[in-house]
Amino acid sequence: MDKIEIKIQDHQHTFRDDFVLTDTKAFVHEESSEQQIRPNRFIDYPGQDAVKNNLQVYVAAARMRNRTLDHTILHGPPGLGKTTLAKIIAYELEAPFYQTSGPSIDKPGDLAGILAGIEPGGVLFIDEIHRLPITVEEILYSAMEDFSVDILVGQGPSARTVRMPINPFTLIGATTRMSSLSAPLLSRFGIQEHLEFYDAESLAIILKRSASVWDLELTPHGAMELAKRSRGTPRIANRLLRRVRDFADFGGVEILDEELVDLTLNRLHIDISGLDKMDRRIMRIIQDRYQGGPVGIEALAATIGEERATIEDVYEPFLLHQGFVRRGSRGRELTTQGIEHLNAVINLP
Ligand SMILES: Nc1ncnc2c1ncn2[C@@H]1O[C@H](COP(=O)(O)OP(=O)(O)OP(=O)(O)O)[C@@H](O)[C@H]1O
Ligand SMILES: [Mg+2]
Repeated sequence: MDKIEIKIQDHQHTFRDDFVLTDTKAFVHEESSEQQIRPNRFIDYPGQDAVKNNLQVYVAAARMRNRTLDHTILHGPPGLGKTTLAKIIAYELEAPFYQTSGPSIDKPGDLAGILAGIEPGGVLFIDEIHRLPITVEEILYSAMEDFSVDILVGQGPSARTVRMPINPFTLIGATTRMSSLSAPLLSRFGIQEHLEFYDAESLAIILKRSASVWDLELTPHGAMELAKRSRGTPRIANRLLRRVRDFADFGGVEILDEELVDLTLNRLHIDISGLDKMDRRIMRIIQDRYQGGPVGIEALAATIGEERATIEDVYEPFLLHQGFVRRGSRGRELTTQGIEHLNAVINLP
């Protein structure tokens, strides 16, 4: 099960990729509704066609040859479906699935223990794999290459390493920061796939499926409006759908149509391109404090008061994708389109 961090955040982050909790019951509810909509099979996973088509071939070929799938790395911005895809791969391989994450393993022995417990052909998913400590990462090299781990036996001068065989398995790593992955680790992944932002059509299909699982009546125009304003990200689309449902319940409305979607998103200060307060704040700081840029990422992060990594991993990719911000050797710059967008949403916070 996914580890969902509990964070109480200030308002400007409320509608980003973290759950905002007021009480524990809400947490349980949001988490279980998340589980309900997670697809299990490729066929229920719209979008990412290039990645999906390749993976389907690799999975089918591995099954035909009765071998393990090559180690796979999935990279791309948060919420695009990396964890979901890893689970689908295991499901389609009919292989046992084991899940852990980089920051949660701090000793080589812990990873060796996990590897030793994998059944033949199992899929080990390591989320945020770029955050594995280097001493732990080194255990993976021989595990990935020849299905063995070197373990240290004994202590002091009599200590020696013993090579222990493990069952053949597939490692699936996920990362939002491909550039932080070490070269030796990266080179051991035979399959490397990058997830892109979704187009509105694919998001609308995802939303219709979520609506039917949650027993909501979402109109096609409602789905499309929501899709267009969800930053190309299924997790955000599904979260916003839950907010539309709240407004529907509160107003005693049965049908989630374009008007209700628009009302909800306006209340959340989500603009026509799906940007929220924080996105606009970043763009306005570049515009007002740095005369449109270029501004170095460190200076920008300091002015905004956010971690550099958060800006780079969470906010910036979509602004670049939309063509509102450009990244050059001298820093971040607002584009003409970015300036036009800010002018169009001048009344929004
Ligand atoms: N193609 C898709 N079709 C249907 N639902 C999807 C798709 N991609 C993602 N989702 C849904 O979006 C949510 C987020 O997906 P997921 O957790 O797999 O993203 P992620 O890339 O692993 O994010 P992170 O980098 O934060 O770990 C899940 O609830 C999942 O059900
Ligand atoms: Mg994930």
